Amino acid sequence: MRNTTLISILALALATACSKPSPASSDQAEPQPGVTPAGGTTASAATGGAGAAKAKEIFANRCTPCHGPEGRGDGPASASLNPRPRDFQDKDWHASVDDKHIETIIKFGGAAVGKSPAMPGNPDLNDPVIVAELRTLIRNFKN
Ligand code: HEC
Repeated sequence: MRNTTLISILALALATACSKPSPASSDQAEPQPGVTPAGGTTASAATGGAGAAKAKEIFANRCTPCHGPEGRGDGPASASLNPRPRDFQDKDWHASVDDKHIETIIKFGGAAVGKSPAMPGNPDLNDPVIVAELRTLIRNFKN
């Protein structure tokens, strides 16, 4: 009787001890994409859905001050820019640029493609999936 009780206590203790490290270690394994330390979303590299969510978050944080939440080029910081950011809803513009142009300007900034240096580069966006998702997001503004 006493032994059984002891064993079940031991088993319980073992079970709790073992169950703890696993969530912690899987948390540590996740932030590999290393895009932003603030990126709370796990597995962003694993699924397009999470990548799209991440891109949305990046756009809201970094791009809307100039480009506006609807991509119309009317963010609060756009007034002082010359030239001002264009309207991402303009389908003629979409037809005039390829995906690579959009990805290059996102990653390396306006100066890299002969445009205004006021468009900053984002060299820390090392995950090509995220850059592609940002490009898709911009494409989706098209009217
Ligand atoms: C400080 C203001 C500013 C911020 C922040 C900014 N942009 Fe821009 N962006 C501009 C300006 C100004 C232009 C227009 C450059 C030109 O026409 O010469 C531009 C142009 C662009 C273009 C190319 C449009 C074209 O004419 O071919 C894309 C795509 C773009 N930005 C995406 C982004 C994305 C994505 C982000 C966020 C990661 C971002 N921008 C952040 C100012 C900004």
